[in-house]
Amino acid sequence: VSSYPSHISLLPSIQQCNLSNLPENYFLKYYLYHALTWPQLSFVAVVRGPGSKPGKYPKVVGYVLAKMEEDPPDGVQHGHITSLSVMRTHRRLGIAEKLMRMSQRAMAEVFNADYVSLHVRMSNVAALHLYRDTLGFEVEKVESKYYADGEDAYAMKMDLKPLQ
Ligand code: ACO
Repeated sequence: VSSYPSHISLLPSIQQCNLSNLPENYFLKYYLYHALTWPQLSFVAVVRGPGSKPGKYPKVVGYVLAKMEEDPPDGVQHGHITSLSVMRTHRRLGIAEKLMRMSQRAMAEVFNADYVSLHVRMSNVAALHLYRDTLGFEVEKVESKYYADGEDAYAMKMDLKPLQ
């Protein structure tokens, strides 16, 4: 698992990973905007084949795309998870948990974030387990018809003050 600065060249593979795993997709320039504006907050998980040569791109199997809220309505510095996913072939290995913990630590240490927020589909059992049970997020509210297909979202947040 490594942070973005040395991996700008992996952004198209990260975008591809997102397309494989989630219906919420973004233009490449939005990934680039995250990587250039908050390079400390996004991380990628890669695998290298046996005997892979320097210069050969490793395979992206997971990523977390994260940012600081630019104009927080509550006036409190906080981070936001834009997107997280892990390829099916590499799930239940602790990759998502590690990506999330690395991003959360950087939000607190680098940007003094008080908390981190995110949205998740109410039907997304795996992600809800990860956020609520493994990481300790709490549901703040339900956002009705948040997603393009009309599904509601849980708006969740987690206190980062202990990490500051
Ligand atoms: N069922 C129940 N709980 C699960 C599941 C599952 N299928 N998968 C993960 N969890 C929970 C468990 O609590 C697990 O802890 P445990 O293994 O000790 O029981 C914990 O999450 C950590 O699991 P990881 O191995 O770190 O999770 P993984 O690397 O498999 O990734 C993820 C989880 C990201 C939700 C993955 O299933 C995925 O990519 N799903 C599709 C994309 C997605 O839903 N992304 C989140 C959208 S919300 C957003 O982007 C802000």
